[in-house]
Amino acid sequence: MRTKYCGKIRIIHLNELVTLCGWVHKVRNFGQFIFIDMRDYTGLVQIVFELQNNIIFKKAMTLRNEFCIQTSGIVRKREEKNKNFKIDTGEIEILANDLTILNPSKSLPLDYINHNNNDDSRLKYRYLDLRRFDILENLQIRNKINYLIRTFMTKKNFLDIETPILTKSTPEGARDYLVPSRNHHGKFYALPQSPQLFKQLLMISGIDKYYQIVKCFRDEDLRADRQPEFTQIDIEMSFVNAKQIRSLTEKLIKNIWFKIGNFKLSKFPKMSFKTSIKKYGTDKPDLRNPIEIIDVSSVFKNKKFLFFFNLNPKKNNRIALLCISGGASLSRKSIDNYAQYVKKYNANKLFYIKIKKSFEGKEFYSSIRKILNEKILEKILEKSNAKNGDILFLMADEEHIVNKSLGMLRLKIGDDLKITQKNNWKPVWIINFPMFSKDKNGNFSSLHHPFTAVQNNDIKKLKNAPEIAISDSYDLIMNGYEIGGGSVRIHDSKTQKKIFDIIGINKSIQNEKFSFLIEALEYGAPPHAGIALGFDRIVMLLTNSKNIRDVIAFPKTTSATCLMTNSPSTSNNLTLKELGISIIKNI
Ligand code: AMO
Repeated sequence: MRTKYCGKIRIIHLNELVTLCGWVHKVRNFGQFIFIDMRDYTGLVQIVFELQNNIIFKKAMTLRNEFCIQTSGIVRKREEKNKNFKIDTGEIEILANDLTILNPSKSLPLDYINHNNNDDSRLKYRYLDLRRFDILENLQIRNKINYLIRTFMTKKNFLDIETPILTKSTPEGARDYLVPSRNHHGKFYALPQSPQLFKQLLMISGIDKYYQIVKCFRDEDLRADRQPEFTQIDIEMSFVNAKQIRSLTEKLIKNIWFKIGNFKLSKFPKMSFKTSIKKYGTDKPDLRNPIEIIDVSSVFKNKKFLFFFNLNPKKNNRIALLCISGGASLSRKSIDNYAQYVKKYNANKLFYIKIKKSFEGKEFYSSIRKILNEKILEKILEKSNAKNGDILFLMADEEHIVNKSLGMLRLKIGDDLKITQKNNWKPVWIINFPMFSKDKNGNFSSLHHPFTAVQNNDIKKLKNAPEIAISDSYDLIMNGYEIGGGSVRIHDSKTQKKIFDIIGINKSIQNEKFSFLIEALEYGAPPHAGIALGFDRIVMLLTNSKNIRDVIAFPKTTSATCLMTNSPSTSNNLTLKELGISIIKNI
């Protein structure tokens, strides 16, 4: 139906007769002339309808935004003063000599001009929202990254193997999406939270190198970087260690960042989980921000400080601070705002010490002046390296509250004071995670998933002191986002059963849920390791998108609904009966 694409016409096509198909992006009627910006997925081009070509002009008068049209005309040069250098086709225009309205359009429920649309209407009319160039561009970049990954992995002899979607639960820390079985009343498939067990089974099958770009499903609380169905670049290899998986991943990520982001990443640093929590309050540190959490607990050892800071000696407490270079000029109001901000993270109080220059040396303005004698100040200055003109934000509370609050505050201040280097990329591997976390009732759960091996195969530690066992796992963090995670796997059934025991999965549940894995591990399972990268998150970062939704064609809302199709939705009684399901109302 067409001879050219709108966005591809250039001065070299001058005087050619072209036929184009697309949409009316914008109409301007000047009486003698009607100009339209015509759009297809390659871009915009200006079409001119002249009054003297009366029949077509009359037709053009009926055009409205988003009509779907076909038009033919001659490519001509625009007058110098009318050239539009904002668009690629801005030097030319098409003088129309034919016009077919392929389909009119109702007036749009979305504002394309000022983009003044709320998220709900954008999601309800997602097919119209996708007509916007910025989202289209994101999908084009997504496609390019996908192509790069496939080329890279194929060159390295990885086999792309699909794994089942209707399957059994694969514990990754979220709830499962369940699919009821019609043939087996009362039984359910679970949608995979990841292909974890299948890729391990493929290693047992002798498939040496597996990868898949695969949909995963997790019923969990959603955030700006989380969707209930998302895509992983899933990788597994046999006869390799953690270092080899990290090295392969680094090469892949560097390749993507160079070819898509035009950025040369240097070697990724490694940091232990413990250091990351201590310095940044999180295991996903944004290293573009140089502010670190500095521990000053030892400065306030004396019991009187427990009382002053209102600390419960039975709790695990931490006294720590942030040193903000040049921050002494912050107003009272900003300081109050920061004190308010940390309340969100259950922090009681945020103290400050401003260091301001005077003739004698340093002068202090502080909300804890009464406990700051010279000796304490000296120690604080030594630990924080604070200079004249800096401000220290100090907090004394339970350790997890201090970590979370100061961790978030460093990000906020980094943004507010433009300390964070926005145009930089800072990857980091976080390693040496504990095998388990312990809840307040003393129950263990796996910090990664339960198929993760203990470091150095230290089975003794696993048995005798699981709380201090360190896993052979790694997370890849980029600018504060977790873009991947993986581990060396357990490859013997005895250790696997031991892990299940530790995390409280009793023998009958082990049999019911994981007997296939435990048995498979008994048939000469090879040592193996792997990783999964969050494909959507990588695209989100490289397209500079604020929300993961902007890189997914048909995303869900934060409450996991699709506003366009209205899913999830009810089912009819017959289907429910066939499935043996009855709905309990009002729970
Ligand atoms: P993990 O659970 O860490 O590991 O997931 C791997 C990566 O997937 C991305 N991701 C998500 N992206 C968008 N929305 C979500 N809800 C979501 N959840 C996770 C993150 C994360 O780093 N089977 C293991 C991997 C392995 O051990 O090989 C796993 O799934 O970027």
